[in-house]
Amino acid sequence: MSASASCADDSGHQLKRSLVLVGLMGAGKSTIGRRLAQMLSVPFIDSDNEIVSAAGCSIADIFEIHGEAIFRDLEQRVLLRLLESNGSAVIATGGGAFLNPVIRDAVRQHSVSVWLKADLEVLLERVSRKRTRPLLERGDKRAILARLIEERHAVYAKADVTVDSSAGLHHAVVEEIVKILTKRGDYA
Ligand code: S3P
Repeated sequence: MSASASCADDSGHQLKRSLVLVGLMGAGKSTIGRRLAQMLSVPFIDSDNEIVSAAGCSIADIFEIHGEAIFRDLEQRVLLRLLESNGSAVIATGGGAFLNPVIRDAVRQHSVSVWLKADLEVLLERVSRKRTRPLLERGDKRAILARLIEERHAVYAKADVTVDSSAGLHHAVVEEIVKILTKRGDYA
Protein backbone atom coordinates (compact mmCIF):
# COMPACT_ATOMS: atom_id res chain seq x y z
CA MET A 1 0.00 0.00 0.00
CA SER A 2 1.32 3.49 -0.71
CA ALA A 3 0.79 6.51 1.49
CA SER A 4 -2.15 8.59 0.36
CA ALA A 5 -3.09 12.15 1.20
CA SER A 6 -4.40 12.42 4.73
CA CYS A 7 -7.44 14.47 5.74
CA ALA A 8 -8.72 15.61 9.09
CA ASP A 9 -10.50 12.77 10.91
CA ASP A 10 -13.67 12.87 13.06
CA SER A 11 -11.75 14.66 15.80
CA GLY A 12 -10.90 17.42 13.31
CA HIS A 13 -7.23 16.55 13.76
CA GLN A 14 -4.77 15.61 11.07
CA LEU A 15 -1.40 13.86 11.21
CA LYS A 16 0.95 16.52 9.84
CA ARG A 17 3.75 14.17 8.75
CA SER A 18 4.36 10.46 8.72
CA LEU A 19 4.97 8.65 11.95
CA VAL A 20 7.81 6.13 11.87
CA LEU A 21 8.05 3.40 14.49
CA VAL A 22 11.52 2.06 15.31
CA GLY A 23 12.80 -0.48 17.81
CA LEU A 24 13.86 -4.07 18.21
CA MET A 25 12.14 -7.16 16.92
CA GLY A 26 9.21 -7.90 19.22
CA ALA A 27 8.77 -4.29 20.38
CA GLY A 28 5.25 -4.22 18.90
CA LYS A 29 5.92 -1.96 15.89
CA SER A 30 3.41 -3.68 13.58
CA THR A 31 0.62 -4.28 16.07
CA ILE A 32 0.85 -0.85 17.65
CA GLY A 33 1.38 0.76 14.24
CA ARG A 34 -1.78 -0.77 12.81
CA ARG A 35 -3.85 0.48 15.75
CA LEU A 36 -2.24 3.91 15.66
CA ALA A 37 -2.99 4.30 11.96
CA GLN A 38 -6.61 3.42 12.60
CA MET A 39 -6.81 5.93 15.42
CA LEU A 40 -5.17 8.68 13.34
CA SER A 41 -7.16 7.82 10.17
CA VAL A 42 -4.08 7.35 7.99
CA PRO A 43 -2.74 4.32 6.07
CA PHE A 44 -0.56 1.78 7.86
CA ILE A 45 2.56 0.58 6.06
CA ASP A 46 4.89 -2.18 7.22
CA SER A 47 8.23 -1.68 5.48
CA ASP A 48 9.10 -5.40 5.77
CA ASN A 49 5.88 -6.26 3.89
CA GLU A 50 6.79 -3.72 1.22
CA ILE A 51 10.20 -5.36 0.86
CA VAL A 52 8.57 -8.79 0.53
CA SER A 53 6.23 -7.45 -2.19
CA ALA A 54 9.09 -5.76 -4.04
CA ALA A 55 11.34 -8.84 -3.89
CA GLY A 56 8.62 -11.42 -4.39
CA CYS A 57 9.98 -13.63 -1.60
CA SER A 58 10.04 -13.78 2.19
CA ILE A 59 12.53 -11.93 4.40
CA ALA A 60 14.01 -15.30 5.41
CA ASP A 61 14.53 -16.22 1.73
CA ILE A 62 16.09 -12.84 0.91
CA PHE A 63 18.60 -13.36 3.75
CA GLU A 64 19.31 -16.96 2.78
CA ILE A 65 19.45 -16.65 -0.99
CA HIS A 66 20.78 -13.11 -1.50
CA GLY A 67 22.36 -12.24 1.86
CA GLU A 68 21.80 -9.53 4.45
CA ALA A 69 23.55 -6.79 2.42
CA ILE A 70 20.98 -7.12 -0.38
CA PHE A 71 18.18 -7.04 2.19
CA ARG A 72 19.60 -3.81 3.69
CA ASP A 73 19.84 -2.27 0.23
CA LEU A 74 16.20 -3.13 -0.50
CA GLU A 75 15.22 -1.83 2.93
CA GLN A 76 16.86 1.52 2.20
CA ARG A 77 15.25 1.84 -1.21
CA VAL A 78 11.78 0.95 0.08
CA LEU A 79 11.98 3.29 3.07
CA LEU A 80 13.28 6.26 1.06
CA ARG A 81 10.42 5.77 -1.40
CA LEU A 82 7.85 5.59 1.40
CA LEU A 83 9.26 8.58 3.24
CA GLU A 84 9.53 10.74 0.15
CA SER A 85 6.01 9.98 -1.09
CA ASN A 86 3.17 12.40 -0.44
CA GLY A 87 0.72 12.00 2.39
CA SER A 88 1.09 10.99 6.00
CA ALA A 89 1.08 7.38 7.13
CA VAL A 90 2.15 5.28 10.06
CA ILE A 91 5.22 3.32 8.98
CA ALA A 92 6.53 0.35 10.97
CA THR A 93 10.20 -0.28 10.15
CA GLY A 94 12.19 -3.49 10.49
CA GLY A 95 14.39 -3.51 13.58
CA GLY A 96 17.62 -2.78 11.69
CA ALA A 97 16.37 0.07 9.50
CA PHE A 98 17.06 2.97 11.88
CA LEU A 99 20.68 1.78 12.22
CA ASN A 100 21.27 2.89 8.64
CA PRO A 101 22.33 6.59 8.71
CA VAL A 102 20.80 7.25 5.27
CA ILE A 103 17.42 5.98 6.46
CA ARG A 104 17.82 7.84 9.76
CA ASP A 105 18.42 11.13 7.93
CA ALA A 106 15.35 10.61 5.72
CA VAL A 107 13.26 9.72 8.78
CA ARG A 108 14.43 12.90 10.50
CA GLN A 109 13.67 15.00 7.42
CA HIS A 110 10.22 13.65 6.56
CA SER A 111 8.61 12.26 9.69
CA VAL A 112 8.33 12.08 13.44
CA SER A 113 10.03 8.98 14.84
CA VAL A 114 8.94 6.97 17.86
CA TRP A 115 11.12 4.34 19.54
CA LEU A 116 9.05 1.57 21.06
CA LYS A 117 11.33 0.53 23.88
CA ALA A 118 10.86 -2.85 25.53
CA ASP A 119 12.96 -4.92 27.89
CA LEU A 120 14.64 -8.22 27.10
CA GLU A 121 12.05 -10.48 28.75
CA VAL A 122 9.17 -8.85 26.87
CA LEU A 123 10.99 -8.95 23.53
CA LEU A 124 11.94 -12.57 24.07
CA GLU A 125 8.41 -13.56 24.92
CA ARG A 126 7.03 -11.83 21.81
CA VAL A 127 9.62 -13.11 19.31
CA SER A 128 9.29 -16.67 20.55
CA ARG A 129 5.91 -16.95 18.83
CA LYS A 130 7.41 -16.80 15.31
CA ARG A 131 10.37 -18.28 13.44
CA THR A 132 10.36 -15.78 10.60
CA ARG A 133 13.28 -13.62 11.73
CA PRO A 134 16.59 -14.80 10.26
CA LEU A 135 18.78 -12.90 12.74
CA LEU A 136 17.20 -14.82 15.61
CA GLU A 137 17.67 -18.23 13.99
CA ARG A 138 21.46 -17.95 14.23
CA GLY A 139 21.76 -19.05 17.86
CA ASP A 140 20.27 -18.52 21.29
CA LYS A 141 17.49 -15.89 21.00
CA ARG A 142 18.11 -14.46 24.47
CA ALA A 143 21.84 -13.96 23.81
CA ILE A 144 21.20 -12.45 20.37
CA LEU A 145 18.57 -10.04 21.66
CA ALA A 146 20.78 -9.05 24.62
CA ARG A 147 23.59 -8.23 22.18
CA LEU A 148 21.24 -6.25 19.91
CA ILE A 149 20.02 -4.26 22.93
CA GLU A 150 23.67 -3.40 23.70
CA GLU A 151 24.41 -2.44 20.11
CA ARG A 152 21.23 -0.68 19.13
CA HIS A 153 19.57 1.06 22.05
CA ALA A 154 21.85 4.11 21.83
CA VAL A 155 20.85 4.52 18.17
CA TYR A 156 17.12 4.05 18.74
CA ALA A 157 17.43 6.73 21.44
CA LYS A 158 18.02 9.25 18.62
CA ALA A 159 14.31 8.97 17.70
CA ASP A 160 12.21 12.08 18.38
CA VAL A 161 10.08 10.30 20.99
CA THR A 162 10.64 7.26 23.22
CA VAL A 163 7.71 5.26 24.55
CA ASP A 164 7.96 2.24 26.82
CA SER A 165 6.04 -0.60 25.18
CA SER A 166 6.96 -3.21 27.82
CA ALA A 167 4.43 -2.78 30.50
CA GLY A 168 1.05 -1.57 29.35
CA LEU A 169 -1.44 -3.01 26.92
CA HIS A 170 -1.06 -1.99 23.31
CA HIS A 171 -4.05 0.35 23.38
CA ALA A 172 -2.48 2.26 26.29
CA VAL A 173 0.72 2.71 24.27
CA VAL A 174 -1.34 3.94 21.30
CA GLU A 175 -3.13 6.47 23.49
CA GLU A 176 0.14 7.67 24.96
CA ILE A 177 1.63 8.22 21.50
CA VAL A 178 -1.46 10.13 20.30
CA LYS A 179 -1.25 12.31 23.39
CA ILE A 180 2.43 13.07 22.75
CA LEU A 181 1.82 13.81 19.05
CA THR A 182 -1.01 16.17 19.96
CA LYS A 183 1.18 17.97 22.47
CA ARG A 184 4.01 18.31 19.93
CA GLY A 185 1.60 19.71 17.31
CA ASP A 186 2.19 16.76 14.95
CA TYR A 187 -1.46 15.75 15.27
CA ALA A 188 -3.56 18.89 15.39
C1 S3P B 1 15.52 -7.16 11.51
C2 S3P B 1 14.22 -7.06 11.94
C3 S3P B 1 13.08 -7.63 11.18
C4 S3P B 1 13.43 -7.71 9.69
C5 S3P B 1 14.71 -8.45 9.50
C6 S3P B 1 15.89 -7.80 10.22
C7 S3P B 1 16.60 -6.55 12.33
O1 S3P B 1 11.92 -6.81 11.35
O2 S3P B 1 13.51 -6.44 9.12
O3 S3P B 1 14.52 -9.77 9.94
O4 S3P B 1 17.71 -6.33 11.83
O5 S3P B 1 16.33 -6.27 13.53
P1 S3P B 1 11.05 -6.73 12.72
O6 S3P B 1 11.76 -5.79 13.65
O7 S3P B 1 9.75 -6.18 12.25
O8 S3P B 1 10.95 -8.11 13.24
